[in-house]
Amino acid sequence: MTIIDGKQTAADIKAEIAKEVEEMVARGERRPHLAAVLVGHDGGSETYVANKVKSCKECGFESTLIRYEDDVTEEELLDCVAQLNADESIDGFIVQLPLPKHISEQKIIEAIDPKKDVDGFHPENVGRMAIGLPCFVSATPAGILDLLDRYHIDTKGKHCVVLGRSNIVGRPMAELMMQKRQPGNCTVTVCHSATPNIPDITRTADIVIAALGVPGFLKGDMVKDGVVVIDVGTTRVPDASRKSGFRLSGDVEWDTVSPKASYITPVPGGVGPMTICSLMKNTLQARKNRMK
Ligand code: GUN
Repeated sequence: MTIIDGKQTAADIKAEIAKEVEEMVARGERRPHLAAVLVGHDGGSETYVANKVKSCKECGFESTLIRYEDDVTEEELLDCVAQLNADESIDGFIVQLPLPKHISEQKIIEAIDPKKDVDGFHPENVGRMAIGLPCFVSATPAGILDLLDRYHIDTKGKHCVVLGRSNIVGRPMAELMMQKRQPGNCTVTVCHSATPNIPDITRTADIVIAALGVPGFLKGDMVKDGVVVIDVGTTRVPDASRKSGFRLSGDVEWDTVSPKASYITPVPGGVGPMTICSLMKNTLQARKNRMK
């Protein structure tokens, strides 16, 4: 069994990006510039955004953090998006989700200029991704493709089972694993909350990508020997022994699944670090696209 080291892979990719950025700067070009909009003080979102800012530094990018309190209006946030769309110094930006209930996430996402939508959430990017056109692919699925690629995991003709159908992970992941390229070229099954007999389906999988947000959902008796397991879950579960009061739990029961797996991603240190890395790759691409 090989443990897929997302932390190391992400560090390698960020070093490659940093090298490319220094070459750009040496040619007299400007550094990529990513902006992040954060609403409120949700613990998870604070951590994600702080890590995004830190990764920008590691990659030699400029970064700007724009904060709003929970009571920001939809109109104010739409104004902010319009300003970022128009700001020539910004190559790409993200609005951290979730947003407070009184704001329509879809309305905000659709207001973002698709050319600056480095999260790949705008319907234009989602549509282009679905038919295999150049686009910004959402960061978590893109990071998973990079892991499969860098570990030389052959996916052609394999049965890939995706657990979960979220717009951010499950749905794009299924599309990408189906496309005619490596990694990809799989026969894909998507399971969700209304799927009966999920264990019967996962037992036939060569690759399982678990993105449900249900801690320990996938158990050893649900997979076959040699399965490749990608765990996207990062649920905070209370843990009094930790200083933070919680630990991150994946969707996979490590102790029973890992002995049967050929490759498996840990939580933390698997998919998580790769997600931010893909955001950095998209931002570098946004910078290059704007120079064309
Ligand atoms: N919330 C959880 N994941 C993400 C992400 O990748 N991008 C944004 N904008 N919000 C998120």
